[in-house]
Amino acid sequence: MTFILNQHHSIANHMLRELRDRAMQRDPMRFRHNVERLGSILAYEISKSLSYHEEVVETPLGQTSVFVINQQPLLITVLRAGLPFFHGFQYVFDQADSGFIGAWREEGSGDIRINLNYVATPSVEGREVIIIDPMLATGKSFLKSLMALEKYGKPSFIHVAALVAAPEGIRHVEDNIKHPFKIWTCALDEGLNEHAYIVPGLGDAGDLCYGEKL
Ligand code: URA
Repeated sequence: MTFILNQHHSIANHMLRELRDRAMQRDPMRFRHNVERLGSILAYEISKSLSYHEEVVETPLGQTSVFVINQQPLLITVLRAGLPFFHGFQYVFDQADSGFIGAWREEGSGDIRINLNYVATPSVEGREVIIIDPMLATGKSFLKSLMALEKYGKPSFIHVAALVAAPEGIRHVEDNIKHPFKIWTCALDEGLNEHAYIVPGLGDAGDLCYGEKL
């Protein structure tokens, strides 16, 4: 079942409101900062689903036991909009290995085409992988990224992490993914417009973080 952060009462909703507000979007530093903060919150939610063991820790005054994660997940980010979201994940999974995928949409006539031109990642073999792609719109860039990872091994579990998701993207992932997986999103919106942008969404996440691309 998809985890949807804004279905719960929490301060995360203030960050989402600021991200969506077109007046506040004029401040790219604030926009990136809120994306980062939501990345950390979603990472924390995902961390609750991972496996842990107990270890003893020595304090200056005695001993106690703590739950320690068995292995930090591998963080894979889809450039460029994924970067601030990824930084939020890195604050939480501070010892995690990371991989990067360069993907962009070709917005010509007809179907949206996704192009990939860059993959740099450690092995994904047997790893719990979090794929960090802020806008889960059609789901095509996510699935294309997953295909690009095939030659780097077979992950044991895939966490799909999005800031905003559309039902169409969720369905596309659910119908096509071949690994055990779970989708985690900060918000689930109404759907896609004719340009495959999420409505109401927030606009172009990459442009809002880094300036309008040519
Ligand atoms: N990418 C974005 O940045 N925004 C959308 O709404 C869809 C894809």
